[in-house]
Amino acid sequence: MATFISHSPAETESLGERWGRAAQPGLVIGLSGDLGAGKTQLVKGLARGLGITARVHSPTFTLVNEYGGGRRRLFHLDLYRLETRGQMVSAGLEEFLQPDGVAVIEWAERLEDGRWKMEDGKIIKVKIEILNETERRIIYDDFGA
Ligand SMILES: Nc1ncnc2c1ncn2[C@@H]1O[C@H](COP(=O)(O)OP(=O)(O)O)[C@@H](O)[C@H]1O
Ligand SMILES: [Mg+2]
Repeated sequence: MATFISHSPAETESLGERWGRAAQPGLVIGLSGDLGAGKTQLVKGLARGLGITARVHSPTFTLVNEYGGGRRRLFHLDLYRLETRGQMVSAGLEEFLQPDGVAVIEWAERLEDGRWKMEDGKIIKVKIEILNETERRIIYDDFGA
């Protein structure tokens, strides 16, 4: 595990950007943390690091936003509104756990309910803790990026 203290949205984005630049195909990143922690901010950086220029925002009415045009495709999922494991299965989540590109999942802690344990090592786990208005503690599985 690694820990990074971010002092600004830009610093959080930079961390994501670094991961994006290093991202290998099939990478799945699971983000957890309260509303406003900075999960989407991190995804913006990830997209930039992949060379994606489109504006990134969380999928609200769909399960996934898909971004092309970069070094690898980015699948951006948000499980905030998915309650039960049954819903996740019917939402077809499984295909995004072996993405043709890179997948990043907000509210990934919701997966722990199902058979896709984040502990199984398939998903790089990232937890963002709010320290104060501008500081965040980001704890993550060090995947060498
Ligand atoms: N160090 C920081 N890292 C990330 N976001 C921060 C930080 N400090 C303040 N913020 C603010 O917190 C909010 C994070 O929002 P967002 O990324 O949408 O969170 P989430 O997706 O986790 O709900 C933004 O308004 C951002 O400007
Ligand atoms: Mg978000």
